Amino acid sequence: MAVLSKAHALKQAPITSQLRSASPEARSQRSEPTSNRASGKLICVATKASPFLKWAGGKSQLLSQYSEYFPKTFNHYFEPFIGGGAVFFHMLGKYGDLNATISDRNYDLINCYEIIRNQPTELIEALKNHKNDADYFYAIRAIDPLTLTKVERAARIIFLNKTCFNGLYRVNRKGQFNVPFGRYNNPRICDETNIKAVSEALSQVRIIHSSYDTSANLAKRGDFVYFDPPYQPLTATASFTSYTENSFGLADQQLLSALFAKLSAKGCKVMLSNSDNDMVRELYKEFRIETVKATRAINCKAEKRGQISELLIMNY
Ligand SMILES: C[S@@+](CC[C@H](N)C(=O)[O-])C[C@H]1O[C@@H](n2cnc3c(N)ncnc32)[C@H](O)[C@@H]1O
Repeated sequence: MAVLSKAHALKQAPITSQLRSASPEARSQRSEPTSNRASGKLICVATKASPFLKWAGGKSQLLSQYSEYFPKTFNHYFEPFIGGGAVFFHMLGKYGDLNATISDRNYDLINCYEIIRNQPTELIEALKNHKNDADYFYAIRAIDPLTLTKVERAARIIFLNKTCFNGLYRVNRKGQFNVPFGRYNNPRICDETNIKAVSEALSQVRIIHSSYDTSANLAKRGDFVYFDPPYQPLTATASFTSYTENSFGLADQQLLSALFAKLSAKGCKVMLSNSDNDMVRELYKEFRIETVKATRAINCKAEKRGQISELLIMNY
């Protein structure tokens, strides 16, 4: 089949830059920081980097409501459920000299962050090979990611995210991406400008592939930890476990609340987002709880959307 053989050819194509780790050569390919020497000083201009993936539960729409709740001062920033990173990119823009650690247990996601940081040029080249076509999409979707280089693997995820229905990341219980083709007219598969900006913005950021507790436990007194876990389902009928790689059940919510309290006792500033329900309110009753308004799918049909209340929990 022509499309499959094209996809196979892409898979086999020599990618000149198959550097599998953050070698100094790869890292040196990043563009220099934007600077303003007019005053004689080197002034870093705030990053224009923005999320490069659309992610379920993304926080972009809530940033204006969150803004007043971020702490004024802190040392290091931790975001252990990074997802599409809407809050992280906002923080990067707000605090020019942000020292940050980001992590997630989704390997494909973390690989994208690492490849954008370390090999933006190769990633851009790989993305340019992809095209918005249904047969091609399904051929790329069917590829076993383990047969790809890390650059090809990151390009595949970004390509699928930009061209799939609703631009979501969803996997089945075997961890295979299973969102159908999106039929968009002209999706921006390769946003070269943003990839370069993100690469630069990530240059000093620690990126970890791990469960949330491993990275959050690295936080010290005076650091700020923002948790955005998969939400506790709103209704008793909604399933706790989605049978995807991202399933996060009641026991996980309880463990997370215990870690929240532990970090608080350590002297960290801690903030957490979750759905507004009695279980979550009970878990965090010792802490400050604020509500924000979000527009979410309130029905199993995605087009039925409405305003719902969500929680923002803080220890400060
Ligand atoms: C609600 S999303 C985060 C959305 C993100 N704040 C944004 O704006 O795009 C939750 C994330 O948690 C990750 N995740 C689920 N269980 C995890 C775990 N045990 N440890 C670390 N990350 C986990 C998922 O892979 C997903 O990326």
